[in-house]
Amino acid sequence: MKTLLSLSIEVPNNEQIFKEKQMKVLSGIQPTGRFHWGNYFGAIRQYINLQENEQAFYFIADYHALTTVRTPEVLRQLTHDSALDLLALGLNPEQATLFRQSDVPEVTELTWLLMTITQMSRLEKCHAFKDKKEKGLTADVGLFTYPVLMAADILIYDSEVVPVGSDQVQHIEVTRDIAGRFNSMFGDVFVLPNAHVMESAAKVPGTDGEKMSKSYNNVIEIFETPKKLKKKINSIKTDSKTVEDVKVPEECPIFTLYQLFASEGEQQELAERYRAGGMGYGDAKKELISASTEYFAEAVAKRESLEQKSEMLEDILQAGAQRAREKAREVLDRARAACGIGKMRTS
Ligand code: TRP
Repeated sequence: MKTLLSLSIEVPNNEQIFKEKQMKVLSGIQPTGRFHWGNYFGAIRQYINLQENEQAFYFIADYHALTTVRTPEVLRQLTHDSALDLLALGLNPEQATLFRQSDVPEVTELTWLLMTITQMSRLEKCHAFKDKKEKGLTADVGLFTYPVLMAADILIYDSEVVPVGSDQVQHIEVTRDIAGRFNSMFGDVFVLPNAHVMESAAKVPGTDGEKMSKSYNNVIEIFETPKKLKKKINSIKTDSKTVEDVKVPEECPIFTLYQLFASEGEQQELAERYRAGGMGYGDAKKELISASTEYFAEAVAKRESLEQKSEMLEDILQAGAQRAREKAREVLDRARAACGIGKMRTS
């Protein structure tokens, strides 16, 4: 297999890339923080698995991130890091189309068309806005209309399948509603997408034993420095059993995490040591440190070499955007014509 580093950046044509591929898959990731183990096992790994047999479009949702990240340098850096992380983890830009959301400005125009037929009441029920309002906080219009931008993201590429975490299912339902409403008003313009819910996210506990999530402040990042990794793993909460005590692997977040990285045999071996007594949680943590370090070693090396070539990263994103824009233009033109925007029809 060709490695990323030897990639020549040419813009492959869609026919070539997509021949024999099956479903049109699309997903977006917000660059609101560095990726953690929960992101990887819950989503990124699935995205990468889908790239080979499906027509995959993946983008860094910087327009969406703008509703929460308000420091320009931070947004730029996180967008850059997100793209680099995805490539280092195995996203192959020769197989999937990777791009920055804002490099396809057509998506904001479609958002407007969709907003004109979206009911306020539908958006008032969406959780990001509702949660904020219930906490007595004021919300920006951008947060309120966030689901419409997401609908435009999805509909503008005729996406069929949208792999997302369970928290995003509501947004896919809104997308289907909006698409259905537009179609019933203006004709058969949009493909109705389906959510593909990736459930394994639930099985990645954070350092406090709860679901790993940036908002709980319990994450272990994929590209932590060795020192930080050690510190984070050592901070994983356990019960107060002594070294001698018999322990229950299934009840321990260290073991649950270890399962993500270790082979069946290694898992059984560590489980035995839990059940036999005589092993402290400190030892289990050491096993987790070495298993996770080994698991991501290749990605870390790849990231280091990619980091030296920042123009190459921009070239990859531009090539992706060019491909994405071609499709976006086609669907946007279809939508504009259907609702009476633009040039007069001469035929
Ligand atoms: N809202 C999604 C999230 O927070 C990110 C996203 C933006 C997205 N646009 C999308 C996901 C389109 C799937 C499809 O996770």
